[in-house]
Amino acid sequence: MNPIDALLRARCTRKILDGARLSRSAVGGSARAAFDAALRAAIAAAGWAPFHYARDEQVPEPWRFTVFDRDVLDALAREFPHLLPGKLPLIVAGAGAMVQLSYCAEEDPVRAARDPEHHSAAAAAAMALLIACEARGMGSYWCTASPLNAPELRAWCGMGSHERWLGALFVGLPLAEEREHREGFSGKQRARRTSPESGWMRWIGASSSE
Ligand SMILES: Cc1cc2nc3c(=O)[nH]c(=O)nc-3n(C[C@H](O)[C@H](O)[C@H](O)COP(=O)(O)O)c2cc1C
Repeated sequence: MNPIDALLRARCTRKILDGARLSRSAVGGSARAAFDAALRAAIAAAGWAPFHYARDEQVPEPWRFTVFDRDVLDALAREFPHLLPGKLPLIVAGAGAMVQLSYCAEEDPVRAARDPEHHSAAAAAAMALLIACEARGMGSYWCTASPLNAPELRAWCGMGSHERWLGALFVGLPLAEEREHREGFSGKQRARRTSPESGWMRWIGASSSE
């Protein structure tokens, strides 16, 4: 199998990640520095996603990645516990970083017709980041739990009012296989996938019956 297909298949939602492997005291703190460097490289790679319209002259890319690193996640858990219902405290505790993903909506109403393209480009960048993380041995979870887009959190991390949120991408080091089995949470739709022939691909053309 070619390596990109293998990564696409291997990527899966891993909600609980192994925060302990990144704590400053672990391996003299070097794991944390290596992780942060790998995440920067993955985000730079994701920036090669396609985009159709330049958002503005200085920064044409429509997407914005706002990284909450491990220290900021600790501050998030301390200062905004009310925004972390359910499993979110565990998810935040295990992550190496949370990447808030948004796109910059057009402020000029005449150009607002471009927003769906900006949104699609940002979604393409999200997938590119998940794959770039997978390639670096990192686990990930795309989460759209609405408290993570609360106005107070947006203000805290400097997200402008014209930035539209696509979700929080939690990334980190995966749990060892046995712990993943015991403590992990996977995506609800994972086991429901079907083949293209089940109906989500229509092939119009001469080889359609192959
Ligand atoms: C746009 C988007 C938003 C998602 N939001 C959530 C979420 O808020 N909570 C959740 O449990 N999973 C969320 N997921 C993860 C999906 O449930 C998961 O991708 C799906 O079950 C398929 O599993 P897989 O990623 O392991 O293939 C989201 C996925 C996408 C693409």
